[in-house]
Amino acid sequence: MKRLLTGLQPTGVITLGNYIGAIKQMVEYQDDYDSYLFVADLHSLTVLNDDNNIKDSTRDLIALYLACGVDPKKNTIFIQSENEYHTNLSWILECHTYFGELSRMHQFKEKSKKSDNFSAGLFTYPVLMAADILLYDADLIPVGIDQKQHVEIARDIAIRFNKKYGDTFNVPDCLISESGTKIMDLVTPDKKMSKSAENKKGVIFLLDSEKDIRKKIMSATTDSEMVIKYDKDNKPGISNLINIYAALKNMSIKEVEELFKDSNYGNFKKCVADVVVEELTKIQNKYNEIINSDIIDKILDENIDKVRSIAKEKYDLVKKRISIGR
Ligand code: TYM
Repeated sequence: MKRLLTGLQPTGVITLGNYIGAIKQMVEYQDDYDSYLFVADLHSLTVLNDDNNIKDSTRDLIALYLACGVDPKKNTIFIQSENEYHTNLSWILECHTYFGELSRMHQFKEKSKKSDNFSAGLFTYPVLMAADILLYDADLIPVGIDQKQHVEIARDIAIRFNKKYGDTFNVPDCLISESGTKIMDLVTPDKKMSKSAENKKGVIFLLDSEKDIRKKIMSATTDSEMVIKYDKDNKPGISNLINIYAALKNMSIKEVEELFKDSNYGNFKKCVADVVVEELTKIQNKYNEIINSDIIDKILDENIDKVRSIAKEKYDLVKKRISIGR
């Protein structure tokens, strides 16, 4: 059975973009793959600010995984920092990664522009991500398009390592859905919907109230044409709403265009809001049941030995390959 693996950072409540880009795909494929879903808490240290409470956000994120329909019987759910082999392998992989490669990462270039005082961790972040993936011989990595370059560098590192030392790592591929590739900000639809956006009016968080969701979608930026047609360059706002509708209804973009060919923007926005409210209300109801139960600790306790043992085996093989230790 092929292995699926992905992780999300616990930096505040996740967005509709995170849900569509990563979690929804995990739910869709969980019957057909051996699935691993973790909380990338070590990655969130790279952009730490004072109001981050990683422990609470980690619990919230696991509750949201479950509320979104991730089945703990079909997915191995765990916390990255509880398995020390991620950081162990990351160091070895860093020594097999070029400075130039990491300098070309879009996310690093964008985030490091924001301050002169960024951490070394922000720079080496993709290598830790490669370790997350390669430790488990994952085949497919469901992500949004913003993480595609990071999965590609994990591939490059695996191929390079295998070539130098012999077959050690499986070479992974991205799994990116048609409509979920990149959900954009509702106010500035040329930018990715992101937790860290300054203006929260463009971002739908999974725990937003119905009133806020409707308000955000009804006031989403659109063009002046009044035609519901997918055209990312000239109609980014409408294209984004088409994407959201298509992803949540499991429809193709063409089918959504056809369905709304006689609608006006107001009508279409209302239908998008209805679909988002319906989906998020279900998730929120389940989240409220889960967050105060002991199920989260039970799942984590059950899985930790399993993930450590898989990772240890791979790490020991790597040490043998590069000839360190006894
Ligand atoms: P993170 O926490 O930034 O985002 C989690 C997932 O959500 C996707 N995503 C989006 N998809 C569509 N539209 C958007 N607007 C949008 N915003 C975010 C991201 O692509 C991602 O799939 N480095 C990763 C976490 C990570 C990881 C890994 C992922 C660590 N190790 C190993 C896969 C495999 C990150 O920061 O994601």
